Amino acid sequence: MSDIFDPAALVRPDLEELIPYQVQVHHNVIKLDANENPYDFPPSIREEIWRELGNHTFTRYPDPVAGELLEQISDYTGVPADGILAGNGSDELILTLLLTFGTGGRVIITPPTFSMYEVHARIAGARTVNVPRKGNFDLDVRGVIAAAKNPDTRVIFLCSPNNPTGNATPPEEVAEILKNSRSLVVVDEAYQEFGGESCIPLLMEYPNLVILRTFSKAFGLAGLRVGYVLANPAVVRQLLRTKQPFNLNAFSQLAARMVLAHREEFGRLIELILQDREELYRELAGLPGVEVFPTAANFILFRTPLPAEQVYRELMANGILIRNMHGPGLEQCLRVTVGRRDENRLFLEKLKKILGL
Ligand SMILES: Cc1ncc(COP(=O)(O)O)c(C=O)c1O
Repeated sequence: MSDIFDPAALVRPDLEELIPYQVQVHHNVIKLDANENPYDFPPSIREEIWRELGNHTFTRYPDPVAGELLEQISDYTGVPADGILAGNGSDELILTLLLTFGTGGRVIITPPTFSMYEVHARIAGARTVNVPRKGNFDLDVRGVIAAAKNPDTRVIFLCSPNNPTGNATPPEEVAEILKNSRSLVVVDEAYQEFGGESCIPLLMEYPNLVILRTFSKAFGLAGLRVGYVLANPAVVRQLLRTKQPFNLNAFSQLAARMVLAHREEFGRLIELILQDREELYRELAGLPGVEVFPTAANFILFRTPLPAEQVYRELMANGILIRNMHGPGLEQCLRVTVGRRDENRLFLEKLKKILGL
């Protein structure tokens, strides 16, 4: 027996091919790669958070169910508090959903879509089944329903507006899937504050619907990691089995409460982002050889005549970070987040140069 200890020999075989999620941290760049809110956190809300923090004792564990925050989310969404679960970003809740319902079963994903459904399914030991979107990135509703007929199907992930394509799925199409499936249908509405119709009204009718939301995009709290699930209370009770007891720290609970208490301030920022999205979309669509895809989110997917990697690298050399999405169905595509007006202008200026326009 060799005396060199190799942890790789002990790792779960089904994790061998899982590549750790890698994010390169770049400083001093214009950051248009992660669909965050580009504006500074409103100073008045920041001050209120600091003031409240002064009264806080950090020696005690946080509220395990973030009760006060749930009441405010209930006020914001109209969903009763017993149908809400808060988490350490919606990423954590995707894993919680899959650990509770997915392990050992099949999970349906509709690529191209958010990569973490596949990653967390693997971590949870679930098998993913792909039902690719159509050429225009609409859902293949019939295909999803057909794939869900397999009795091992536990969870179906839909993302609306979809990351990275930007298009939203009409609630009628989600309802069609809900009606024809006995699995859990998760609609990730991470970008809903920017557009698309919410599926919240369907919650009353369909006990197998789960909606995922986040504070990381429109509400500017990506750094504090707050997300939530909206669902039937019976689904939430099952999720409590696998949730970490103190998953959402006290600071983040407090900050998210303050954000919702002042949500009209974020409404103004969202308005600005939406105006700038239209401007950026128009400008991109006017570039010869560039194909731009319609969006209901705070980002835009586009296809260039040059290889996406070349465009990505040359923008990076100019201090602008966007996402290279090149892959199946997204050949030569990149995704740019709507930034502040000056950032969008600089991005367009550099992109034009790179494309020789
Ligand atoms: C569709 C979608 N869902 C969930 C997330 C993760 O959000 P959170 O920061 O709440 O983990 C993202 C982040 O990019 C996303 O695009």
